[in-house]
Amino acid sequence: MGSNGVLALLLVCLHVNISCSFLLSNNDEYQVWLTTGDQTKKLSREAPCPVTSQHHGYSVWVDRNKRRQTIGGFGAALTNSAAYVIYHSPIRNKIITELFGSGINDLGISYLRLPMGSSDLNAVDPYTYDDMPNGQTDFNLNHFSIDKDKAFIIPVLKDILAVNPNLKLMATPWSAPAWMKTTKNLFGGEFINDSRYMQTYAQYFIKFFEAYKVEGITFDSFSVQNEPLLSKNDYPTMIINIDPMKAFIKDHLGPLLRQKNIKSKLLLWDYNWSGSWYPEAALNDGNVAQYVSGVAWHGYYGRHDAPEAFHNKHQHVDMYFTEYSGGGWNKNYADVLTTETRLIFIGQTKSWAKNVLLWNLALDEHYGPKKNVGGCNDCRGVITVPTGKHSYTKNVEYYAMGHMSKFVKPGAVRLEANYFNWDDLQCAAFQNPDGSTVIVVQNPNTSKSASFSLDIDAKHYQYNNLPPQSVVTFVK
Ligand SMILES: *[C@@H]1O[C@H](CO)[C@@H](O)[C@H](O)[C@H]1NC(C)=O
Ligand SMILES: *[C@@H]1O[C@H](CO)[C@@H](O)[C@H](O)[C@H]1NC(C)=O
Ligand SMILES: *[C@@H]1O[C@H](CO)[C@@H](O)[C@H](O)[C@H]1NC(C)=O
Repeated sequence: MGSNGVLALLLVCLHVNISCSFLLSNNDEYQVWLTTGDQTKKLSREAPCPVTSQHHGYSVWVDRNKRRQTIGGFGAALTNSAAYVIYHSPIRNKIITELFGSGINDLGISYLRLPMGSSDLNAVDPYTYDDMPNGQTDFNLNHFSIDKDKAFIIPVLKDILAVNPNLKLMATPWSAPAWMKTTKNLFGGEFINDSRYMQTYAQYFIKFFEAYKVEGITFDSFSVQNEPLLSKNDYPTMIINIDPMKAFIKDHLGPLLRQKNIKSKLLLWDYNWSGSWYPEAALNDGNVAQYVSGVAWHGYYGRHDAPEAFHNKHQHVDMYFTEYSGGGWNKNYADVLTTETRLIFIGQTKSWAKNVLLWNLALDEHYGPKKNVGGCNDCRGVITVPTGKHSYTKNVEYYAMGHMSKFVKPGAVRLEANYFNWDDLQCAAFQNPDGSTVIVVQNPNTSKSASFSLDIDAKHYQYNNLPPQSVVTFVK
């Protein structure tokens, strides 16, 4: 900002009588935002970090010339349960503004994942967009309808898009309609390996995109199937083995998307880090690969750097990180903040993820609501919205995400930053489209503070005593 700009801002600030110290951070200072494992600071604005000649502790260097992937966004899944609790909250507008707004007190969520029909977190009985009585089929999709989504999901989405019109969406089915499955049941089983069913299911995707488009909602991306090798008999799941998946994409879905001019990016896998053989096998067939934009990963199993290894083999395929949940199984704030920052937000962006998405955006005080299904009974939302209350709780997931989502904007480019030992220090750096720089540094150690210099643009900045299990974001 030039000196005229600063002067103008100062005048505006004096005029409306607000504190301007944060607007006037000078060119040689980084803003500092801190969350500590002991919870004394939660995305708290600290004294700025100035240029200095001193060096102490670790050196975090950032190379602005080594530009990596472009960031698409950060967020979570708007499950049926998440949409339900937000829709029914008496402070719905406040919640939506504070999650999706771009103000300094807002979380700045930029990407959402929407289950196509039901997952294991539904406030209403599980459904798809073309459910038929047992024993009947509907190959013409005459009964296709997104009406059930209109009860509260689409209204919430429209409110969100009013707050953030640039929000991007990913769609993911947990199951095809029961009549397209070997078990004739939404819970578990396989997609029927038959071209008539495949052609119908490809039309089902098209109808979904077209019906949402009528509502003014388009999808940046979609995965063909959530966790395609998982079958559970108590919630919507469906297996599509690799050969039927390849046939479905190359002979049915891919050509139909092209013919209908649907631009939503097709993502493979949407499952564990450990299963890279599956997207690998799909991409090794050029007739499949031509329709594929990316591979989506979940963080429950396998090595967290699997996407990076995959990227190194397939540089033209984008990496997406699409699911990780905290929950009642670990309520230790410092431990969860450490894991979600190191493994997921820093770990996945450094492993080439364009997007980093957690599981449920919001749940109630009982990890629900949840109707007539099994699956996860104690997953924690990014926020908890207690039924009927004029308040909500920002969970540890909110702060882990906020260190990036508030500052790293869609279109930002990751900049190369150095690597330390797993238990020493973690860092990731980004350049926003407006030229501003964001550096996130984490101290994962459980007992020892960490001091470090930031070395960037041939300048040194010094930060002392980042407490144990804490994370700090620098912005300039
Ligand atoms: C699926 O069907 C195709 C074509 O009929 C067949 O070649 C293939 O072996 C089947 N795959 C599976 C996993 O059943
Ligand atoms: C995926 O992860 C789950 C644990 O969350 C594990 O039980 C399952 O075997 C894994 N599946 C694959 C295909 O890697
Ligand atoms: C924390 O740092 C100390 C001192 O360097 C080291 O001995 C210890 O292993 C570290 N602990 C963890 C959990 O990283």
